[in-house]
Amino acid sequence: MVSDAELFAAAEAIRQKAYAPYSKFQVGVALLADDGRVYSGCNVENAAYPIGNCAEASAIAAMIAGGAKRIKRVYVTGPGTLPVTPCGGCRQRLREFADLDVTVISHGVEGAPLTQTLGQLLPHSFGPEYLGN
Ligand code: THU
Repeated sequence: MVSDAELFAAAEAIRQKAYAPYSKFQVGVALLADDGRVYSGCNVENAAYPIGNCAEASAIAAMIAGGAKRIKRVYVTGPGTLPVTPCGGCRQRLREFADLDVTVISHGVEGAPLTQTLGQLLPHSFGPEYLGN
């Protein structure tokens, strides 16, 4: 059993590695996957701003490369006091691999964590089942 404290620690560990020279906003994500393992990722920015990767995308890539299939819990960490919630695009990225009742914890590490479900973050969403998957 992986605790939220362990997910927080994994997100914070990888957040230190974030490449965010433009925004200076370093984000870490830890995903608990269906294989019982924790996969993590950080944001990777680019001088061509729009092609930077969010931490969620990096963590999902690590999970898929690691052989896991589904996301069971999500922990996002970033700077400041406001909960660092996944951006709209990343909510959709998570939707591809997580059920709507999966918990997403958003944490600006100087403040309190916010616990929501993916369904709360992305209501009435479009997903793989619309395409028969
Ligand atoms: N960012 C993430 O990586 N994930 C989030 O949940 C919110 C925003 C990144 C994108 C960009 O590198 C920086 O934070 C500022 O938007």
